Amino acid sequence: MNDLNIAIVSADMSRLDGIGRALASAARRLQVTEMKCTPQRLGALASQLAADILIVDCAEGGDNAAALTSLEQVGMQHPRMAIIILSQCESADFLIQAMRCGVREVLPSNADGAAFDAAIERIAAKTGRSGDQAGRSGKVLAFASCKGGSGATFLATNLGHALAEQGAKVALFDLNLQFGDAALYLSDGKAATSIADVVQGIYRLDEAFLKANMMQVSPDFDLLAAPEDPALGLEIKPEHIDALLALATRHYDYVILDVGRNLDGLTIRALDHADTIFAVVQASLPFVHGAKRMLGIFQSLEYPTRKIELVVNRFQKDGALTIKDLEAACGVSIRLTVPLHEEAAEAAANQGVAVTALAGGSPIAKSLAGWAGALLGKAPAEENHWFNRFSRFNRILKRA
Ligand SMILES: Nc1ncnc2c1ncn2[C@@H]1O[C@H](COP(=O)(O)OP(=O)(O)O)[C@@H](O)[C@H]1O
Ligand SMILES: [Mg+2]
Repeated sequence: MNDLNIAIVSADMSRLDGIGRALASAARRLQVTEMKCTPQRLGALASQLAADILIVDCAEGGDNAAALTSLEQVGMQHPRMAIIILSQCESADFLIQAMRCGVREVLPSNADGAAFDAAIERIAAKTGRSGDQAGRSGKVLAFASCKGGSGATFLATNLGHALAEQGAKVALFDLNLQFGDAALYLSDGKAATSIADVVQGIYRLDEAFLKANMMQVSPDFDLLAAPEDPALGLEIKPEHIDALLALATRHYDYVILDVGRNLDGLTIRALDHADTIFAVVQASLPFVHGAKRMLGIFQSLEYPTRKIELVVNRFQKDGALTIKDLEAACGVSIRLTVPLHEEAAEAAANQGVAVTALAGGSPIAKSLAGWAGALLGKAPAEENHWFNRFSRFNRILKRA
């Protein structure tokens, strides 16, 4: 387990020394830095802070309201940093306000080594930094739509369901913050809470809080919906995406992101974290145009080519454009196709049920199940078109 980085802030040098000494007796290894500053000025210096835990000494008689406003600024910039304040003020109002501003613990000004130790362990347990936590490291799969209607949301939701059916623990984040509709593909009702609720309470982000705001699609599949009111999406910042993904990848095997067509600061931050980006197209010219533009953006973002997979959805073997044509036009090799199947896709979307659950025998469900199986390292399904391409290829290789 890595050392925890602790930053101590106080306006008084002797208090900084005293707190540093108290921390020296902590049970775990800590990297401690000290900063001479009043809590009221800390907001202005927020960008210079880098720590897992920030301990702020709020001196008696200081302006508590200004200190909390300043800490709120710090919390916004560093949502993953836990804040402990030292204060003699015990009024309920002050405590509640402090928690609202993102403070996790309020300790008395004369807190000793044991009090710090206990507070640090509580924080470590809550944020998943405790030594006994296995620390899952889930894969992040992002779905981008090269042109509206490509099927990115349909594939993201249904692949998520197929992965969960095959034993993986899956989370899906709908990052179409303006018009997200992923929940509609998997349920017949609206999601009660969304990513906006999680971000409003980002200072108390932990597994339980995240899960409480997600829709449970099936026992191993949770969905974090987009906000109903697009205005709420504006509150969500790239730092929040960092914090959400850091937490989710510790608790899920796969975190699926639906970023839709919208490439902005926030979705690009999400894509930065992705292990694989599935760019969804269809085999027709307007989609190819969209794909080329999107691949160009990924290139300018310097994403390695192995990170991008072009997925041809609604694929028909006798269509006007072949896979070879698409590969030549887009300049990448294509390994993934999902067949067109209006009946199964429409019935699933209309009922808000995953296609593998509703029409498991349909070509589209088999294709998705094969895709999920391949990601999980299981034998590919024979019926699946793209895996057949591979298995034939493999057979040829074996004979060579
Ligand atoms: N392979 C497929 N066969 C038939 N219909 C599909 C297929 N994939 C997606 N659809 C349908 O296409 C429509 C648009 O899909 P959607 O995922 O919302 O697109 P996007 O998110 O890329 O804008 C949906 O009604 C969906 O049910
Ligand atoms: Mg969509």
